[in-house]
Amino acid sequence: MKSHEIRSKFLEFFESKQHKIVPSAPLVNKDDPSLMFINAGMNPFKDFFLGNKEAVDKRVADTQKCLRVSGKHNDLEEVGVDGYHHTMFEMLGNWSFGDYFKKEAIEWAWELLTEVYKIPKDRLYASYFGGDEKDGLAPDEEAKALWEQVLPPQRILPYDKKDNFWEMGDTGPCGPCSEIHLDMRTDKERKKVDGASLVNADHPEVIEIWNLVFIQFERKADSSLVELPAKHIDTGMGFERLCMALQGKISSYDTDIFKELIDFLEDATDKKYKGTQKKKDMAFRVIVDHVRAVAFTIADGQLPSNTGAGYVIRRILRRAVRYYYSFLDTKKPIIHDLTKVLAKKYKDVFPELYAQLDFVSNVILKEEESFLRTLGSGIDRLEDLMKREKKSKAISGRDAFELYDTYGFPFDLTSLIASENGYDVDEKGFDAALEEQKARSRKDAAKQVGDWLVLDDGEEVEFVGYDNLIVPDAQVIKYRTVKVKKKDQYQVVLNRTPFYAESGGQKGDSGLLWFGDEKIPVLDTQKENDLIIHIVKNFPRDISSTVKAEVNGKKRAATSKNHTAVHLMHAALHQVLGSHALQKGQDLDDRKLRFDFTHFAKVTDEELAKVETIVNQKIRENIPLEENRYMPIEEAKESGALMLFGEKYGELVRMITFDADFSRELCGGTHVPSTGHIGLFKITAESSVAAGVRRIEAVTADQAEAYLNKELAELEAVRALFKNPKNVAASVAKLQEENKALQKEIDRLQAAQASALQDQLKAKIKAINGVNLLAAKVPINDAKALKTLAYNLKDEIGNAVIVFGAEVKGRPQLLVAISDELTKDNGLNAGKMIRELAKHIKGGGGGQAFFATAGGKDASGLDTAVAAAEALL
Ligand code: SER
Repeated sequence: MKSHEIRSKFLEFFESKQHKIVPSAPLVNKDDPSLMFINAGMNPFKDFFLGNKEAVDKRVADTQKCLRVSGKHNDLEEVGVDGYHHTMFEMLGNWSFGDYFKKEAIEWAWELLTEVYKIPKDRLYASYFGGDEKDGLAPDEEAKALWEQVLPPQRILPYDKKDNFWEMGDTGPCGPCSEIHLDMRTDKERKKVDGASLVNADHPEVIEIWNLVFIQFERKADSSLVELPAKHIDTGMGFERLCMALQGKISSYDTDIFKELIDFLEDATDKKYKGTQKKKDMAFRVIVDHVRAVAFTIADGQLPSNTGAGYVIRRILRRAVRYYYSFLDTKKPIIHDLTKVLAKKYKDVFPELYAQLDFVSNVILKEEESFLRTLGSGIDRLEDLMKREKKSKAISGRDAFELYDTYGFPFDLTSLIASENGYDVDEKGFDAALEEQKARSRKDAAKQVGDWLVLDDGEEVEFVGYDNLIVPDAQVIKYRTVKVKKKDQYQVVLNRTPFYAESGGQKGDSGLLWFGDEKIPVLDTQKENDLIIHIVKNFPRDISSTVKAEVNGKKRAATSKNHTAVHLMHAALHQVLGSHALQKGQDLDDRKLRFDFTHFAKVTDEELAKVETIVNQKIRENIPLEENRYMPIEEAKESGALMLFGEKYGELVRMITFDADFSRELCGGTHVPSTGHIGLFKITAESSVAAGVRRIEAVTADQAEAYLNKELAELEAVRALFKNPKNVAASVAKLQEENKALQKEIDRLQAAQASALQDQLKAKIKAINGVNLLAAKVPINDAKALKTLAYNLKDEIGNAVIVFGAEVKGRPQLLVAISDELTKDNGLNAGKMIRELAKHIKGGGGGQAFFATAGGKDASGLDTAVAAAEALL
């Protein structure tokens, strides 16, 4: 079976078992601070498991893009070394949200593997949870008994918590699991060694293919386990591994999933992937793996950057570049081209890459180019270090760390180049420096999240802030303290709230919570999955009393104006620049809006003016807001709503329209009732944020008025200085012209003066022992002009010692210039002379043998200083 068939069969199978097939969520996790990237198929459903939200569909199946490169599940360093680890992989999964449990999960897994995929039954093993004393958990006899229906007892094996208790992270939903392992060895080998002894033993041909997790607990921050209100199923089958097993390969890189990528890479580098070469093959695997992680993450909205998720992506891409640079002899960017092969291959599965191919490939190209330059300078730096350490033939751990930190050189690259040149690198010292840095950043990021203290677990959180700014009778359902940089932050969750939590680029509301007559300010509102968290100044005296929640209405209104303005601008950008100008990010609050979008050139002033005009026109049309709050996503699509890549949309979406022919977007933010409320829209800046991404900053309403008034006041001041001309720009231009003409005239006069002065000065030359001394006080007010004059005369006179005194900008200055031949043959030295002469003007200075200057405090000494030159000479 080809990979696409394997994938379809999985989805069709679960569709036939009444599962709803849903699309993969984006790789980048937006609203969960505990997780940077999706690392398992179940992440997008975390809230259903925890009971924070009710699932509409109780049975769901999908193929989910996952990335295991940070946090609890991190496989990055393994990738390339063996044939079956990946950074990005697909996880096929089926879910039950409080619906079916172990029996169906096990029976269906067995049916799919043995009847649809036709895996020989005698090659399969099942593992189950053997219990854990510390957590107070008994062995999973239920799973064991279910497996006994289809497998002989010697192929059902118990394991401990490490292998058979699955947890999403340090906290969150978890439960015992049962894994299915496949023995892919030859019959001869299977006879020799019993497969049961190789399960969970890192054997490359006895591998886990499917993990069935029976989610029934939540792991708390204090590491205790709490039983969840309902029992759920979460299964995950690594797609690449499954294909490897079904296609009879011992490496997933040998399956058809990677074939086109490897073929392309072979052509591009003129090297062959053989499966028998160490470094070269590893480079092939690293590159074809990493391109997937990087390209899909960028397509899902995460640009490479210097922090957070963006930095992880940048490092993965750099790892790939380094591999082709070092092991495939390629010094030109190639990964951006590989994305084209990848996009085509996944066009029907994950269409987001194909749809944004130019953008993604351009971002990658720019990253590659810049890192290749850094690699070049890193190698130069390493060569310098090797020159410096010629004797010791050793590179210190600190230096290796600098190469890592500044030039992105991993240790193995440094040691590879060093050993090629016969140098050693201190690995221990490097590790120590790295550990030091990690400890520093751990300290910086220190954030301790306490467990929720739950007052009422039954209720879902209801957001009513689209319609109300006040809820008179809410209740706190949970609260906790979070320590951020040693400071306590107090958080509460209400059962019903008008507070909008920061999301989709719109900042969270602030306002007040009234607990009886106790008033508690809400400083900010944040989101964690679907929980709306109010960050409050302090906890109230009586947390269980009824709460009146009141949003700061003025701030909310100003924020809504900016949000609606962003929609109008987005639509205007499409009219002016084209439909490619899609949102890549936004950030708006009550004072300003910032909008990032794809576009490959600077937006010209005319284009910006056009955008501004369109938006202001739409504001004056006072178009009413049309809100469809719960619209089936298919209907929204049909009505032409703009959807963004990298967003996770549910079955029901909220559609915001301002003029059906103009702006229609899926959006969760707050908006004005009609565009007239915005009053005025003014762009304040346009810039570039990344390759192919531009940023526009703008203001609306009061802020726009204040901005314009400030600009006008400045213009008014200029106009007044020009005595109110009709055309200020023409007046400024005229003034600039006049200035230029005057400067020219000054230059001409100064040149004439200088040449007259030169003639006068030449008359003062005294010959002393074959040296032509010219010592004089000169009427020049500019240090540079003084120097030029001295140089000109020195050349003209020959064998010259020139000593000038002058008042430059009100301060006495001395200069000594000596012809080169005199400094060599006669040992004269301008620096030494000036130190003597400067005493007369109470100053000091220095320079070289042929030229020196000094400044002083006493101008009255200039004449004696000049006169002293002769005696000194
Ligand atoms: N959550 C489990 C895993 O990631 C099964 O989906 O392995």
